[in-house]
This record gives sequence, structure tokens and C-alpha cells, in this order.
Amino acid sequence: MKVNFTETILRDANQSLIATRMPFSVFEPVLKTLDKAGYYSLECWGGATFDSCLRYLNEDPWERLRKIREACPNSKLQMLLRGQNLLGYKHYPDDVVRLFVKKSIENGIDIIRIFDALNDVRNIEVAVDETLKNGAHASGTICYTISPIHNLDNYVKTAKQIEALGVQSICIKDMAGIMSPKEGYDLVKALKENLKVPVVVHTHSTTGLGFMTLLKCVEAGADVIDTAISCFSGGTSQPATETLVYTLKQLGYEVDVDEKICKEINDFFKPYRNEVLKSGLLNPVVMGTQTDALIYQIPGGMLSNLVAQLTAQNKLDKLDDVLLETPEVRKDLGYPPLVTPMSQMVGVQATSNVLSGERYKNVSKEVKSYLKGEYGKAPGEVNEELRKKVLGDEAPYAGRYADTLEPAVEKARAELGDRATCDEDVLSYIAFPTQAEAFFEKRDEKKKNTFTYSIKKVD
Ligand code: CO
Repeated sequence: MKVNFTETILRDANQSLIATRMPFSVFEPVLKTLDKAGYYSLECWGGATFDSCLRYLNEDPWERLRKIREACPNSKLQMLLRGQNLLGYKHYPDDVVRLFVKKSIENGIDIIRIFDALNDVRNIEVAVDETLKNGAHASGTICYTISPIHNLDNYVKTAKQIEALGVQSICIKDMAGIMSPKEGYDLVKALKENLKVPVVVHTHSTTGLGFMTLLKCVEAGADVIDTAISCFSGGTSQPATETLVYTLKQLGYEVDVDEKICKEINDFFKPYRNEVLKSGLLNPVVMGTQTDALIYQIPGGMLSNLVAQLTAQNKLDKLDDVLLETPEVRKDLGYPPLVTPMSQMVGVQATSNVLSGERYKNVSKEVKSYLKGEYGKAPGEVNEELRKKVLGDEAPYAGRYADTLEPAVEKARAELGDRATCDEDVLSYIAFPTQAEAFFEKRDEKKKNTFTYSIKKVD
């Protein structure tokens, strides 16, 4: 049996360990080596890379993608897309989603992993449709979570709905690293029995389950696993590529990844890893194993947010109360998966419920929007009493929220005028207006300087 590998060093490992701060110039020299390692795909774009390029690295994210494409002609380039939210947390109208997907593929993307934080299939439909129209691979995704209403039947049902959209693979996305080896095995087995398309498994090493979970998922028939080159693996990143290549080859699985080339890649990144450790950008704590998430059944990142919130208000002694309140809030909201932005919404509301001494005395703007149905359909039943208290007699929106949004591409084009040089600029602006405008300004400055310099040279 064959097992394929997706290498995450350029996107998720970069995002999970060093807040996506790795500039293109750092990894440019190793791209040709990554291209010949035998990976199924290179996850290299989407997620937080786009925002980080514009906000911190003064890079055009589209140009980064084109350069990776050029340097890696033999690899499938993969990106992560938050369905109707694209790379952010609010819903965009369909014209924006379609243009964004089309341009991502035009600029070099082969595989788009598309998910919705609530597993509301309506929120990934348009992105999947546009991916297929442009001849790329749509990988439909289910966010993995644990709750009384999330069970095998429920996941299989969602996966079948996604498969019916025409996706070429289904990915299980365990963003918090809480899927255990047994749960992973059972889920992959159930999906393999019920689906025709290949199954991909994405997890994180946060709680230490990662290696064992991936191995059991492979035993259950997983076709593709996500791993990170070893010096940027472990902790909040993925399990190590080389370790799984070694293990699976020894167990008799067919693996295309070349260990010698992996060593070259790892040797290349080691000095950079040492540099970011020294500068403090990489905190050794995130590379370790943190098992608290297994006790509280909430992601590690959410737990540290709760601690930070309470510490800021000098109320850390209330942590136990907040940890008891968190699952109650989640239950009231119909058990949303605890992935951004739901994890923050649930955490902030639970904290407020405890600190104000009265449940839902204050309800955040985000929770109100959620109850109105603006994020999509809640996975389970929402507490009716809470809904009445917040919305009164207003009925929640039953349709697809994006249907209420006005088209935005033409409007953005008009706003930007000749500051935008192409549709890619327009999309950067729609996604992150402030960051994109600042980036365009700097880019124009640079152009002006280059121009002056060339005139001087002629003189
Ligand atoms: Co991830």
C-alpha cells in the first residue's frame, strides 16, 4: 500500500512555530531540493501566509506564490482556504471567492484544501465549484472536534455531502492535535468504507498523540498524511517527515519520499531554526508536548488565551470556574468546533459569564452574529432561551449568509483606481485593506527610487 506525504514546512510548520514569519528569501535556496524530494504536495500558501507577507514581511503574497511555482515545476503546490471566509474570518460575497480561487490557481496552486469552521457545507460549496471549474484539485475538509454530537455517523454524513460536491479528496483536519490513535483509526476506516475519494489526515503534535495517530490512520487506509521536516516539527507543528518515512518504509508501505533529500532539506533549515531560537521568534515551549488539552478537551492555544485574558484582568484565580463554564457555553452554542474564530468567541463569552457573575449578562457582538446565523448553521441545537434573550423575536437567518452580501470586486477596483496594477492587488486589498494599502505605498516608493537610480546611472 502506498502512503503519500504533504510537506508543511512552508505553511503550517512555519505558521504554528514561528507565526508565519519566515521570509521567502530564507527558503528560496531550498525550493529546488524540496521539488525533488518525492512529496505528494508542498503546502506553501494560504492560511496566515498571505496576511503575514503583507503585514510583516513586505512581500507580495502573489509574487511569492509565482516564485515558488517557478522553482518547483514538478511539485503540486497546495494552499489552505477557509471556504467563504477565504483567508480571514468574515464571509465574502461569491464574486470575491470565485476571483480569489481562480487567481490562486492561475498563479500556481494545484490543490486547495477547503474548510469551514462549523463544517457547514454551504460555506465551502462556491470555493469547491470554482476550484473544479479551473481544473484544480479541491480537497474537501472536515474540522475534527470532540463533543456529544460529533460522532462517526455525523462525520461520515458530512464527508458524503462534501464528496457529492465533486471534490477529489477528503481531509480530516485536527487543528488542535486532540484526535487520538483510536479515534483516528475509527474515523479513517469509516470514511474509507463510505467514500470513493482518497482520505488525507492533518494533525498537530501538540498533545503528543500525532505520530501514533498518523500511524493508526495509515493502518486504517489513509492515503495522504501531513508532516513537517524534522527541525521544524513537533509541538504545535506536525509530526516529523523523516520519522514517518522511516517507520512506514520499514513496515512495508510504499513511500516516494527520499530520505537523503529529506536530510538535505533538514540540514538547510537547521541554521535558520537555531537563528529563530536565538532571536526568541521560536519559543522552545511550543516545540514540547502539552497534554492539558486532553484533560479540558479544548485546544492548547485556546487554553493559553484564557490564561492570558484572566492574567490581564488579575483574575487568574477564576481559571477553574472559566474552564467549567467553557463547555457549557459551547453546549449553548450547539457545539461549534473549537477552531478560530469559534474558540475565541466561546472563550471570551465563558470568561465574561464568570467574571460578571451572571451568565450572558454581556453578550459579545460575535456571539450575537453567530446566533443570527451569520457564520453558518450551528452543528447542534442552540439553547433556545439564550437565542430568545439575545435576538428577541427575530428569527435566525436560515439561508446561506453570503447570499445576503453585495458583490464587492467592482467596488474595490473603483476604490483603488490605478493604485492596483492587477486583479491580484484588488484581492489583496479586499482581504486585508489596511495592510495592502500600506504595501502598495511602499512598493510605489521602491519603484520611484529604482527609477531615480536608473536615471542617475545614465548620467
Ligand atoms: Co494545521
